[in-house]
Amino acid sequence: MDRKIKLAVVGVGNCASSLIQGIEYYKDAGDDESIPGLMHANFGGYHIRDIEIVAAFDVNADKVGKDVAEAIYVAPNNTTVFAQVPTTGVLVQKGPRLDGVNKYTAELVPVDDAQEPVDVVAALKAAGAEIVVNYLPVGSTLATEFYANAAIEAGCGFVNCIPVFIASNDAWAQKFADAGLPVVGDDIKAQVGATILHRTLTNLFLDRGMRIDHTYQLNTGGNTDFLNMLERERLADKKTSKTEAVTSMIEARGQTIAPEDIHIGPSDYVPWQKDNKICFLRIESTHFGDVPMNVEVRLSVEDSPNSAGVAIDSIRCCKLALDAGLSGAIIEPAAYFSKHPPKQIEDREARELVEAYISRYGHKD
Ligand SMILES: NC(=O)c1ccc[n+]([C@@H]2O[C@H](COP(=O)([O-])OP(=O)(O)OC[C@H]3O[C@@H](n4cnc5c(N)ncnc54)[C@H](O)[C@@H]3O)[C@@H](O)[C@H]2O)c1
Repeated sequence: MDRKIKLAVVGVGNCASSLIQGIEYYKDAGDDESIPGLMHANFGGYHIRDIEIVAAFDVNADKVGKDVAEAIYVAPNNTTVFAQVPTTGVLVQKGPRLDGVNKYTAELVPVDDAQEPVDVVAALKAAGAEIVVNYLPVGSTLATEFYANAAIEAGCGFVNCIPVFIASNDAWAQKFADAGLPVVGDDIKAQVGATILHRTLTNLFLDRGMRIDHTYQLNTGGNTDFLNMLERERLADKKTSKTEAVTSMIEARGQTIAPEDIHIGPSDYVPWQKDNKICFLRIESTHFGDVPMNVEVRLSVEDSPNSAGVAIDSIRCCKLALDAGLSGAIIEPAAYFSKHPPKQIEDREARELVEAYISRYGHKD
């Protein structure tokens, strides 16, 4: 059966670029082909190519009015180009600015304040959007709430890739439940990124009976995400999300770590790194006899493609929820795909739960 997922994208930055390039890059993949970063090419009856971009919103004057296929390559986007996306016929529309651009990013993101934003709810309805994916900058609380409300009013499911808490906030999850709509989030977990590496190493230590005495995860990058995060006041939810992703592993084993013994966060903006993110990770522990030891890891990854596949799977899970009439926060996919889900579940178990979710709600024809 020919099924489609009509997707609206909020924020046409690096992550949206990797996602949209990925849909093009893998459009001819075989149903059983193994694709790095995706659980399945055919996910419960939806192939990657079944995701259709029907609307896109941004505030950058250099992106607004352009075809999405063109806008994804416009500066300050600076992620790797691995696919040339053909013209879509979908133009980027101007959304309300709210708290999406800050004093740092304003230098690279031109906003034409004289241009009126569109009516987002009307635009979503006119495009027939079914799912809205949120890729706004960290700290865009007002803008995220605005688009979450717009999704509800337009009858769309919501996939929240950023650390503003919607799926994991009871009041917001209830709003989606009341509207009969699903929400998946919050804060997308990359394929092999700093968070999963930190969780895995933490588990290794705990499996081997080692305490985590001190640990840090310092991250640098040269994309607008890192530029935006120079404004420390915007980071509260990001730090909570990244830190809880690790402390939840420790607490699940009945151990604790004091807040002053764990430091996780974005650390600096290094322009020449572009979309390459470097993570410096250290764990200090003690062996038998209280003899100290430590491990240091340096991870280098292209930031945006690293989470684009995970976002594609989250979107397909959200669509399966919509098809099945599920509403409110969708627990299993969020636990596997998000850093700050409504319920933290160990990654291997969470993956099995998603497989069971696909078997239960996936289309068989
Ligand atoms: N790269 C990853 O693996 C990863 C992982 C977890 C979370 N995230 C989060 O995903 C989000 C997107 O990341 P990115 O690298 O694409 O960032 P980006 O800065 O490249 O893109 C953000 C886009 O939003 C636009 N924007 C700003 N205000 C807006 C508004 N009010 N309405 C509509 N558009 C607006 C900007 O112009 C820009 O195009 C960030 O919050 C990031 O932290 C990314």
